[in-house]
Order: sequence, then structure tokens, then C-alpha cells
Amino acid sequence: MENRLYEPGIIPDGMALSDELFSNLREFLELQHLYKAAIKEIETKLQILNEEFNVRFARNPIHHIESRLKSSPSILNKLKKKGVEISIESAKKNLNDIAGIRVVCCYIDDVYSVADMLLRQSDIHLVKKQDYIKYPNYNGYRSLHLDLSIPVFLSERTEQVTVEVQIRTVAMDFWASLEHDLRYKSDKQIPQEICEAMLESAAAIADIDIRMQEIYRLIQKLE
Ligand code: GTP
Ligand code: MG
Repeated sequence: MENRLYEPGIIPDGMALSDELFSNLREFLELQHLYKAAIKEIETKLQILNEEFNVRFARNPIHHIESRLKSSPSILNKLKKKGVEISIESAKKNLNDIAGIRVVCCYIDDVYSVADMLLRQSDIHLVKKQDYIKYPNYNGYRSLHLDLSIPVFLSERTEQVTVEVQIRTVAMDFWASLEHDLRYKSDKQIPQEICEAMLESAAAIADIDIRMQEIYRLIQKLE
């Protein structure tokens, strides 16, 4: 169990302290704790569902799960970009992705099953849904995004915390990871033909995803 005491001035993992947003370390640690707790709640729910699938159907719909907390400078930048108040309360209200979870599934059906199973849970409330699988992004990006609100029970109060959950297949994750890497590694203007090549690659990967899903269904039907 994690039981570290943070010395003043020592910034814990992942987030760097930003004076413009946090007036003291305590505020920063409280926010970090709150969003870490929300991630743990949802990750636990996902692990339970994955294990249940294993018991019932001898397979795992979830390939792996990643999570991250937005760094304090990124929170600050995003608040400025949105033109909203620079405060912790404003960050909680205006940003849905301070806590992010990425659920990488084996097949497309698994993406929607996992989403439905989460959304059926009575303590989870859907804030926003973006289905970039049904309606891919202009560049070919595919993923199902659910911004979910979940209660975090603290010693003296309960807070509703929003977490951005991105659910996608291994194939979608392959494309998105490389695209992110290519985009961020290059400070050059990407020419149109490269954008088109990326879009074509995304479509080819999406075709393979559908074929893999069909192969899986055929195997399921075998005696
Ligand atoms: P905010 O979440 O407020 O930023 O706006 P939004 O809800 O319109 O954004 P969205 O949820 O659609 O996208 C947020 C996240 O999705 C990004 O931080 C990425 O992790 C991922 N994402 C969205 N579009 C792309 C894309 O084109 N390529 C890659 N690699 N990731 C993307
Ligand atoms: Mg979003």
C-alpha cells in the first residue's frame, strides 16, 4: 500500500506544481489524490468485469489498461486555451480529462460491451460520449470516448469526479499511438499527401479490425 509522506517542495510523480493554479502544495496533493482515486475506482470496475468474463467465457475482452493524470502545466494551458477562470474549481468543472483511462480491447464488439457494462453501473453517470469508431475523426482516428462521472468517498464528503475513458481495439491503438508519435516528434508542417497516407492507413487498419472480428465470430461458431 502506498503510504508516502510528501515533503514540501517535493513534487510527486506525474504532475509538476504550477504556482498559477495551486497556492500551496496541500491543494495540489488533494486534487491529485482525488483524481487518482477516481482512476482507481474505474480501473477496479474494469478489472472486475474482465475477470468475470474470464470466469464465464474463458477469455478477456480487455487486452490492457493505461491511465494518466494531466500534469499541472497542461491543466493550466488547457484552462487558458478554453478562456475560462484559472482555478482548481474551474479545472474540475471545465476539464473532463484531468484523469484519463485508456482501455485497449481485443475486438470491436468488446469495445461496445465494455462501454455498456460500465454505463449500466448505477454509480456511473455519462457526461459526454464521442463515438469516433462510428464517426472517425477527419484524420482517421478511431476510439470510443466516454467522459464518466463517479463518486469518490472521502473522509468528510463525497465528490463527483469526471474521468475521460478512451476505449479502443489493439488495432486502433496501434494507429493512434504511431500517429501521436509522428505528430509530436515533428515540428514541421505535415504535407497533404502524408495526411492522406495516414488516413488510408487508418482505413486499412479498420478493415483488418473488422476481419479479425469476423474470424473471431467464426471460431466461436465452431463445434
Ligand atoms: P477535450 O477532451 O476537452 O480536449 O476535447 P474533446 O472532448 O473534443 O477531445 P476528444 O475527447 O475528442 O480528444 C481528446 C483525446 O483523444 C486526446 O487527448 C487524445 O488522447 C485522443 N485523440 C483525439 N483525437 C486524436 C487523434 O487524432 N490522434 C490521436 N493519436 N489521438 C487523438
Ligand atoms: Mg474529451
